[in-house]
Amino acid sequence: MTSPQWQDALEAAILAPSPHNTQPWRFEVTGDQVDVLLDESRVLAVADPGGREARMSCGAALFNLRMALRSQGLPVHVWLTPDADRRDLLARVRVSGHLAARADELVLYKAIPRRRTNRRPFRDDPVGGDVQMALRQAALHEGARLVLLVRPQRYDAVSTLLRFAENSQRQDVGFQDELLAWVAEDPDRLDGVPPLASGPPPLIEPLVLLRHYGSDGDKRPREYEQEPLLGVLLTHRDDARDHMRAGQALQRVLLTATAGEVSTSFLSAAVERSASRSALTSVLGEEGYPQAVLRFGYGYLPPHTRRRPVDEVSTCL
Ligand SMILES: Cc1cc2nc3c(=O)[nH]c(=O)nc-3n(C[C@H](O)[C@H](O)[C@H](O)COP(=O)(O)O)c2cc1C
Repeated sequence: MTSPQWQDALEAAILAPSPHNTQPWRFEVTGDQVDVLLDESRVLAVADPGGREARMSCGAALFNLRMALRSQGLPVHVWLTPDADRRDLLARVRVSGHLAARADELVLYKAIPRRRTNRRPFRDDPVGGDVQMALRQAALHEGARLVLLVRPQRYDAVSTLLRFAENSQRQDVGFQDELLAWVAEDPDRLDGVPPLASGPPPLIEPLVLLRHYGSDGDKRPREYEQEPLLGVLLTHRDDARDHMRAGQALQRVLLTATAGEVSTSFLSAAVERSASRSALTSVLGEEGYPQAVLRFGYGYLPPHTRRRPVDEVSTCL
């Protein structure tokens, strides 16, 4: 395993999503092995006090790393939380031998640099049944489950809950102060969310409310879609290992959507507080723990957010 091969794989890893684009990861490379570590200094104290979403972000980075290594024909062995005494050590990855990449792995690898969070309005075109099936399969492949909501069933109850949770975060001063600290007004900033990544203000109150970063500036109000396809990602348990599984499943779902030209965004307010997370669990009536809520559809793409470079987040021992 050469250092250009690791460099390529880590370049893919850091393109993973993370809440407020905090990029809470570190990588330690030793020979044919890389450790994925949680950078605890980048865990959001208000939005994510237990570090669950930060671990999911590291899981998403691990998924990108796996696909990048597979694209190089390298078989990948992964151990999740390999050392019970080190809370920050989330995964150990070792490569050995040669095995040609499968076509589906190459499709996911190629989608990595194209994926981004799209908070803009979507068109009212429905996401087809075959795409929905592929999204569900993607979650199952990584040991999680994606429940897609279609109207009427549980859709109205879930969207009401999502709106309520988003509104309470908008009124929570502590949450808003933390969010403001991650609004990247400075175009040279390598983390945080630039205001351009937010959608325009809604012309009429949409069914689900999206998180907003920065001022609207000169953005003209626009109408959002009537009924976005909503999905809830669930895992069997709620420990660090399952958060890493959830992150890998999340990224496989997002990349599968990207490969099918489907845009995605997050609606995390309802899973970021224990009361609304429990309410979501009971409204869904499904086994397991909700880890992420996603919106799927077709829309005009926003620009990419920035990343800290690989040499800032990795060491070669
Ligand atoms: C676990 C998790 C939760 C997130 N929750 C939200 C959310 O509730 N609202 C939102 O607009 N973006 C959310 N995001 C998206 C991030 O803000 C986004 O990934 C980050 O700004 C980087 O941008 P990119 O996804 O376009 O690369 C979340 C991301 C992750 C990984």
